[in-house]
Amino acid sequence: MTIRKIAAALAAIALLLPAVRADEGMWLPMLISQRIEHMHEKGFTLGAEDIYSINQASLKDAVVLFGGGCTGEVVSPEGLLFTNHHCGYGQIQKHSSVEHDYLRDGFWALSREEELPNPGLSVKFLEYMQDVTAEVSSASDGQAAIDSLVTAAETAGKGLSASVEEFYYGNQYFLFVYKEFTDVRLVGAPPSSIGKFGGDTDNWMWPRHTGDFSIFRIYAGPDNEPAEYSEDNVPYRPKKYFRISTAGVQEGDFTFIYGFPGSTREYVTSDEVRYIGEISDPAKIALRTMRLEIMKKYMDSSQDLRIRYSSKYASVSNAWKKWQGEAGGIERNGTVAEKEAYEAGFAGWAAGTRYDGLLDRLDSLYKVLEPLNFAREYTYETALTVELPGFATAYCNAAEEDREELASDFYKDWWLPLDKECFIAVMGAYAENVPEKFRPAYFDSSMVRYGSIPAWADAVFGGDLSKGELTDAADDPAYAFRKAFADHYNNVLLPEYRRINGEITALYKDYMRGQMEFEPDKAFYPDANLTLRVAYGNVAGYAPADGVWYKPVSTLNGIMEKDNPDIFDYDVPQKLRELYATGLYDDVPVCFIATNHTSGGNSGSPVIDADGNLIGLNFDRVWEGTMSDIAFDPAFCRNICLDIRYLLFVMDKVCGAGALLNELEFAE
Ligand code: ARG
Ligand code: GLU
Repeated sequence: MTIRKIAAALAAIALLLPAVRADEGMWLPMLISQRIEHMHEKGFTLGAEDIYSINQASLKDAVVLFGGGCTGEVVSPEGLLFTNHHCGYGQIQKHSSVEHDYLRDGFWALSREEELPNPGLSVKFLEYMQDVTAEVSSASDGQAAIDSLVTAAETAGKGLSASVEEFYYGNQYFLFVYKEFTDVRLVGAPPSSIGKFGGDTDNWMWPRHTGDFSIFRIYAGPDNEPAEYSEDNVPYRPKKYFRISTAGVQEGDFTFIYGFPGSTREYVTSDEVRYIGEISDPAKIALRTMRLEIMKKYMDSSQDLRIRYSSKYASVSNAWKKWQGEAGGIERNGTVAEKEAYEAGFAGWAAGTRYDGLLDRLDSLYKVLEPLNFAREYTYETALTVELPGFATAYCNAAEEDREELASDFYKDWWLPLDKECFIAVMGAYAENVPEKFRPAYFDSSMVRYGSIPAWADAVFGGDLSKGELTDAADDPAYAFRKAFADHYNNVLLPEYRRINGEITALYKDYMRGQMEFEPDKAFYPDANLTLRVAYGNVAGYAPADGVWYKPVSTLNGIMEKDNPDIFDYDVPQKLRELYATGLYDDVPVCFIATNHTSGGNSGSPVIDADGNLIGLNFDRVWEGTMSDIAFDPAFCRNICLDIRYLLFVMDKVCGAGALLNELEFAE
């Protein structure tokens, strides 16, 4: 190549960069018209009104907030709903026992009567959203204004719930009005050896082969409106449901994720990023490593304990692994130094403006917050994770009529020796790492009284509650333990944390506005806050390390490569082995990755193609990219999706639930 050719090639690469960068962002559906041109450039063929509309049925009417922490999508005129296996996991587990182990074997309702109700589970559709910044900011009492907006919205119809959420640290407010359905029944789930294939070993990783789906159905009253569970309820008839495309995906294809990301912090200072990457994440990782090792030891020893603790283990391990990717990504990308350089530029620009000195004020407040926040987080990850004391308080606080069920749920899934061993481990770490001024007096007096943490554990786990006798729960040593730490957390650490954090947030409100003025040409998107968002991008592989390129799609071949009956996470179900052996299904697609900016809460989100059809279910991110909650890096940030064709294959060929497919509608 001549020098000129090289220069031209480099220039072409440089031109590509901004386009890639633009995949960052979680956009508000109501404002999607501001992005639609860009979406069209990337291949989307529908209009903004097809995504979000208050005048006609639009895709938003087929997306739900599932159970308060996941996303789901309606896929049939009879209220059938897809979400992830890990989102329905708690429900599947609740219906399971050693005799009917639906986690292990899967579950399929072969008729409507067999669909299983799930008290406490609900799904919410977004009816509409509305910018209420003017109403809230001009009111003399902002909270009162919010309350009255919420009440007015909620009383306008049946099953409506509303909230006003803050955006850009209070620079903007939106009202969200949801329709909430509480009769949601379990229809089907594959065995965990498919729905959780790869388990915690593969979690947050690519290449991935997890069939992470479960199926529910929304029921409504005869008027099609939300209704409490009743045998007379009927399948909900949605305003909109997704059509499914089985055309398949390739590198470069347009993808769009519609769902409820929970929380991101993209605009914080370098100090906060340093705290997360170098202090908070490593400390929490170490604590959870101890708990996970203890749980694993017991779970490996018996099938009963494996069932009891599977859901708990998965949730402890999930953030544990994510934090490892996050801390690693922050370090790899030099995010702290990058933010420092940005801040230097901002401070220079801000000189003489109303933002002058803002970063210094943030900095000095942050120095006060950090040790306090560390103690708060550490307490939360130690004393407040011990199960029996947590149950003791919940039991005493519960209404009389709810107590029996609470107790039976708790004891069903609890194991004393495991809990006690975790107590000893985490409280030992607490003693070492939380300075006296942040500890409750109860801690130090107990150490004097019992002499050691194991002796203290004998006391906490030696009362009637530990034997399942509930007569004097409030006098139990487990109750006293929890109460002392919870009171200290709630009445000392948290209020002080909130007070200082409130001052920081007030400054962040200015800093946010400052950043927008500093970079007037940049398209800003608000941090995630569990409100409905659109993220769009393309199917794309990536290079996790020097000399390595990951392709963007995985297939059944990869499942068989991992197959190993001796490793729990990789034990492929016999039925799948047999299907594979026919040689007909080698290339069945399983998962794919794309550049969509997603976060926790986007699990179960519909993955939508250029024509608005459903092509997959979002369920994870690659761990080299989990720092996207703080800084999105287009080279490493990929979301992981289940290919819809694998879902259909598993239902039909592996689980024999093909009859349900008749309800679905396919795009030609
Ligand atoms: N990492 C995914 C998420 O954050 C999946 C978690 C569930 N799976 C698991 N193996 N723990 O929710
Ligand atoms: N599995 C995550 C969830 O439950 C989604 C993965 C992510 O954090 O992006 O929402």
